[in-house]
Amino acid sequence: MPGAHLPRGRHWREPCPRQNAGWGTRIPPAPAYPSVVASQKPVGTITRGTTGPNRLRRVDRWLAGPQAWRLRRRTDVPVVVDLGFGDSPVTALELHERLRRVRGDVEVVGVEIDPERVAAARTLERPGLTFRPGGFEVPLDGTDRPTLVRAFNVLRQYDEDQVEGAWSLVRARLAPDGLLVDGTCDELGRRSSWVAVDVDGPQTLTISVRLAGLRLPSEVAERLPKALIHRNVPGEGIHDLLQSLDRAWLHAAPHGAYGVRQRYLAAAHAVRAQGWPVVGGPSRWRLGEITVAWSAVRPRG
Ligand SMILES: C[S@@+](CC[C@H](N)C(=O)[O-])C[C@H]1O[C@@H](n2cnc3c(N)ncnc32)[C@H](O)[C@@H]1O
Repeated sequence: MPGAHLPRGRHWREPCPRQNAGWGTRIPPAPAYPSVVASQKPVGTITRGTTGPNRLRRVDRWLAGPQAWRLRRRTDVPVVVDLGFGDSPVTALELHERLRRVRGDVEVVGVEIDPERVAAARTLERPGLTFRPGGFEVPLDGTDRPTLVRAFNVLRQYDEDQVEGAWSLVRARLAPDGLLVDGTCDELGRRSSWVAVDVDGPQTLTISVRLAGLRLPSEVAERLPKALIHRNVPGEGIHDLLQSLDRAWLHAAPHGAYGVRQRYLAAAHAVRAQGWPVVGGPSRWRLGEITVAWSAVRPRG
């Protein structure tokens, strides 16, 4: 794991552990935002840049759907950050395209800790889409604060005990109605999950999977956000949730005669009826998406 051997909060000046080595700063334990930005050192570590076209469509659909109000209600130009866009800026371009339909004046800023990836991406800049180097300190111009920060497949390459510090740094940068989505997905974006974190802390977990060919909802387990991926064990809320979804999915098998959507709808209804704090309803479930309050899955201990 990047920098795993380093003591918490210590800055280092060795090449980062990756083929395209760079310089970084160990995530400090939730320092106040102004001092971090003033230091101008990107906070984090260069990691593998694996990405691919359309792999983030599920989270983008959620941002442009249930979360669109965050963009619409702003009276100034909303700024959206794609944090850690990777080897290619393709998912940042897609994010810009998708959010432009919600707010024509949205400004998407791709932030990446690897300066070489930023330099390559800059050739694709256009009105409303720019790229810059940076890390979890989320460097923006002047007093700009992001309404949305999408950090996908970034923290999965860090240690679990670094998540809290990274969330705190980004949270400190958010606009008042702002949201950080910290998520993970597979290569093709068929299994995806994300935690939504606002200025007060984590609020929800969303699981979104391709329904065609789905055997069990718990197949998402290996694509859980870093905060939960090691917690899928008995006694933890995320384990209970995935077990409940699996049981409900198996029980709903007869609904499969009407299609996988109907089956997933029946399973989601059942899970909610069992008392899980499900946010949102059938219009999201039919997409293979279910959101629960963070309180239900928050790691114990
Ligand atoms: C696996 S890629 C993800 C690319 C894209 N977001 C996706 O999901 O397809 C992770 C990228 O995050 C970058 N990264 C890691 N830590 C970062 C940080 N603290 N700030 C900005 N970028 C970071 C890495 O250098 C890498 O390019």
